[in-house]
Amino acid sequence: MKITIIGTGYVGLVTGACLAELGNDVFCLDVDQRKIDLLNNGGIPIHEPGLEEVVARNRAAGRIQFSTDVAASVAHGQLQFIAVGTPPDEDGSADLQYVLAAARNIGRHMDGFKVIVDKSTVPVGTADRVAAALQDELGKRGDAAAGSEFAVVSNPEFLKEGAAVEDFMRPDRIVIGHGDSPAGLRARDLMKVLYAPFNRNHERTYWMDVRSAEFTKYAANAMLATRISFMNELANLADRVGADIEAVRHGIGSDPRIGHSFLYAGAGYGGSCFPKDVQALERTARQYDQELLILRAVEAVNDRQKQVLGRKVVQRFGADLAGKRFAVWGLAFKPNTDDMREAPSRVLLRELIERGASVAVYDPVAMEEARRVLALDLAPEQLEKIDFKAAPMDALHDAEALVIVTEWKAFRSPDFDQIKARLKNPVIIDGRNLFDPAQMTALGVEYHGIGRSVLTGRPGQDGQQEAQA
Ligand code: UDX
Repeated sequence: MKITIIGTGYVGLVTGACLAELGNDVFCLDVDQRKIDLLNNGGIPIHEPGLEEVVARNRAAGRIQFSTDVAASVAHGQLQFIAVGTPPDEDGSADLQYVLAAARNIGRHMDGFKVIVDKSTVPVGTADRVAAALQDELGKRGDAAAGSEFAVVSNPEFLKEGAAVEDFMRPDRIVIGHGDSPAGLRARDLMKVLYAPFNRNHERTYWMDVRSAEFTKYAANAMLATRISFMNELANLADRVGADIEAVRHGIGSDPRIGHSFLYAGAGYGGSCFPKDVQALERTARQYDQELLILRAVEAVNDRQKQVLGRKVVQRFGADLAGKRFAVWGLAFKPNTDDMREAPSRVLLRELIERGASVAVYDPVAMEEARRVLALDLAPEQLEKIDFKAAPMDALHDAEALVIVTEWKAFRSPDFDQIKARLKNPVIIDGRNLFDPAQMTALGVEYHGIGRSVLTGRPGQDGQQEAQA
């Protein structure tokens, strides 16, 4: 099929590349000429495993092209995917200006039947606004737009960063919301053809009305964020009552009604989706005079959890960290990405530096992106306190402790003798519970995990009280 993808950001590029891989003829549009030039020269603007190969293969086969030509992009695809950004407004609601501008462009140039596919995460009711904006443009064209029928469908993405290509190519479900007008049903039939390759063995598509599809995306992310904050809150309590949160995780996850995934206590969730989507859903509720009390708590717990590593450092080394040095492993908000958006490492680094410490940091892929965002977070003299190291072991020299923020595979079985030899004190503060506390004790490492202090003989820790002090 001929498909246009509007927006070559994270979602757009992955969607375009994967749809080309399925044999479609894909036209990717972006307003950013530099990005388009980069893509046309074989570059990839984001770090995503497998993406570069898929794009290269499909460029070579002539199944994917990149351009800034709006008229050509509208002419190309009968399916027009909108995958532009929806950054949060000051009040937390999703800013729809780019989505609506894309809709207007389609209305301005279209000629014949088009299906507009909302792929960006957009509040409930956006499809109606997309349809209204497009209709408005058609109206301005008068007779010239005769025969220009369209339908708007909602097809939210459920891609995880770091596994996006895999998630797209092996979806656990495809959610499509469509209207029941003749145009809506025609759109449904086209979407059915498009996604047929994923439904061969068993049907993975959930067909529903447009608003339910829009809502599903927010409900999924809000539920996942809730599970994480719930476990983080329990982990802090486990530290106090002398229980091991990892044992508790297994104990509850084995109940099929609960399940094992997304129950990992840690240093808080970050990224481009959970924080933004939780806020946007709260905002939507307020517009309808409802307050989502659970989500307000989910957010508050997460904000506090991002401070947990700083609290543990203060508890161990005191509030005044002047003259002290710390090693930090992992800066990206999660492994396999260079994304630093809402990353807990940013909260930790700010706290350490404001308390007078200097820091040596290492991340397998996010170093460049970290330099960029930390320059925005911190004053120049604060930034100077951060030493960016080329290898994990290089960060340890003279450090009081190693603090682990992101669970990269490369950190999972390090040489503890080397770590001990380099650190000033054999202290590891682990925000992702990577190691076995008993083994750490046996190795002579003073180990602080999340919700596991009973196993290291230091129950009663965590330090919410210190944080309040
Ligand atoms: C998420 C959703 O998973 C995806 O379906 C949606 O399309 C976009 O948002 P992503 O933000 O890429 O994807 O990351 P994900 O792997 O879901 O992790 C989100 C955050 O939660 C990370 O900061 C991670 O460290 C944290 N997390 C995850 C936990 O703290 N504990 C867990 O048990 C799981």
